[in-house]
Amino acid sequence: MNFKLSEEHEMIRKMVRDFAENEVAPTAAERDEEERFDREIFDKMAELGLTGIPWPEEYGGIGSDYLAYCIAVEELSRVCASTGVTLSAHTSLAGWPIFKFGSEEQKQKYLRPMAEGKKIGGYGLTEPGSGSDAGGMRTTARLEGDHYVLNGSKIFITNGGVADIYVVFALTDPSSKHKGTSAFIIESDFKGFSVGKKEKKLGIRSSPTTEIIFEDCIVPKENLLGEEGDGFKIAMMTLDGGRNGIAAQAVGIAQGALDAAVAYAKERHQFGKPIVANQGVSFKLADMATNVEASRLLTYQAAWLESNGLPYGKESAMSKLFAGDTAMKVTTEAVQVFGGYGYTKDYPVERFMRDAKITQIYEGTQEIQRLVISRMLTK
Ligand code: CAA
Repeated sequence: MNFKLSEEHEMIRKMVRDFAENEVAPTAAERDEEERFDREIFDKMAELGLTGIPWPEEYGGIGSDYLAYCIAVEELSRVCASTGVTLSAHTSLAGWPIFKFGSEEQKQKYLRPMAEGKKIGGYGLTEPGSGSDAGGMRTTARLEGDHYVLNGSKIFITNGGVADIYVVFALTDPSSKHKGTSAFIIESDFKGFSVGKKEKKLGIRSSPTTEIIFEDCIVPKENLLGEEGDGFKIAMMTLDGGRNGIAAQAVGIAQGALDAAVAYAKERHQFGKPIVANQGVSFKLADMATNVEASRLLTYQAAWLESNGLPYGKESAMSKLFAGDTAMKVTTEAVQVFGGYGYTKDYPVERFMRDAKITQIYEGTQEIQRLVISRMLTK
């Protein structure tokens, strides 16, 4: 067993950390405040090859693996969780199902420009009436000659409104729940597609979250992803990997908060000594660091399993469960270490705390992760 990262992984970490600290961190607070997505940051990620990390060069990627991708999401999230999830949704939720289930034509037409960062990807599963019960969707897709006609709406779409390509799930046979679900690749300029309400959120505020609407939306037959009826499995398998991307985001948020708390605890003096000299503070930091490290190991393990073609669904649910709870705990404790200052926008820890909360909710709540893990234990 070898826990040392390869030279390639270390190099990617260094490159992304430099980029994150120099190009992403300086505007993170301002973009959060203004709820502003910055396409230029995405374009710069594309220049560095970050928008196609795990995809082969023949599809516009850099031919690395899921561990490198997780390291990139972690390093971005260490300074800006919004930028982390932009890359995560783009790669694992939109890119992955096309890479795994797409035809050669679909991969060249859609995965390649996404991997090259010329197009941004999104994923549409959740609906107003179907969140945790993903199989309860209502959006329909009716085959009419050489195209499908989609009707319905999807909510809470990460990269909503800025994405050019969405992988979307709809019922081709509304009489059978899971087996009547199909997956489609939707271009944002398809007739009948529009972007609805943009959510005002507690955290990840510079990552746009919107509704997407289908009103007699015309989708060419060749944009069916996989076979009719494969949709629910494609959605679930996509989330199996996606969840580990969120775990990586959570690790990054927690590490960012821990780093800030350690630096502050050494520099802040009270009662004539740095506050880190009190075990009430230093033991807190020790617990935070231990949980961050355990989260990272779970996350890297799941990424390694996926990269090596081994089953990773259970491990990915575990990493998101543990890392999401860790991010919430560690960021809350970081605010505590900062005291009153931590509660202000003068320091980044309040943003980290607001950002952490979503990692316990999206890509399946922590309760759904427990359901997934327990079903795998007992199956
Ligand atoms: N891989 C392959 N197949 C799977 C699977 C998986 N991981 N999970 C389920 N399936 C298959 C089952 O084998 C079953 O197939 P058969 O009918 O052939 O037996 C079928 O799918 C139905 O499975 P279940 O009976 O287990 O389905 P369920 O209705 O009980 O739902 C669930 C299972 C795990 C609760 C699922 O609904 C779920 O994951 N819910 C949470 C949804 C979620 O995570 N949403 C996140 C939205 S995306 C998001 O958040 C994006 C973002 O903003 C960043």
